[in-house]
Amino acid sequence: MSRPVRIAPSILASNFSKLGQEVTDVIEAGADWVHLDVMDGHFVPNITFGPDVVKSLRPLTKAVFDCHLMITPADPYLEAFAKAGADIITVHAEAGPHLNRSLQAIRALGKKAGVAINPATPESSVEYLLEQIDLILVMTVNPGFGGQKYIDATTEKIRRVHKMIGDRPIELEVDGGIMAETIGIPSGAGANVFVAGSAIYKGAGLADYRANIARLRDVAEKARG
Ligand code: DX5
Ligand code: ZN
Repeated sequence: MSRPVRIAPSILASNFSKLGQEVTDVIEAGADWVHLDVMDGHFVPNITFGPDVVKSLRPLTKAVFDCHLMITPADPYLEAFAKAGADIITVHAEAGPHLNRSLQAIRALGKKAGVAINPATPESSVEYLLEQIDLILVMTVNPGFGGQKYIDATTEKIRRVHKMIGDRPIELEVDGGIMAETIGIPSGAGANVFVAGSAIYKGAGLADYRANIARLRDVAEKARG
């Protein structure tokens, strides 16, 4: 089963002084989801924003809010992100000892449950959870910062995760170093959701964002297996 290509701009690369506008601009420019990178300065060496920011953005668009939690522990905050309006809540496999429980908690809150795996984490970490997962995020950089280079060794893992997913209704997302020059690689390996920060939020605004998104989508579509 081939799931649709989805482009998910990461607001991490946007201009935070006009965050609301940056969100509505990428949606108007053709983005499918909004990717929200939550960092705690503990699980990753950077700090971004929490549920209150998600809540303040929620009324601006009906687009799917794809919340990537780079925090540990994650469980105490799941309800706050659910209430803030996240549609998908993704926790890291490395962030806690009881991933099965975290996924149960996310679904019990009525949200889609995602698992992210760092470049060093094998795909086997999600193998026994497939019936509980709506999205697998294969990190293609080490989380923490935008503007890093795509790690080539992750491509084989994307291929394996794609095979493991089979016909299950699970989105396969990639995040980090995704740009027009690289997006064809994970797309060819089976990914269908593409997070991009710096490749989308470059240029002067709406017209440039539209061109950036269209280019990414075009290359991703053409590279599909
Ligand atoms: C990295 C974040 C990414 C980041 C991607 O920790 O999870 O979502 O914003 O940025 P680019 O597309 O610039 O690599
Ligand atoms: Zn992310």
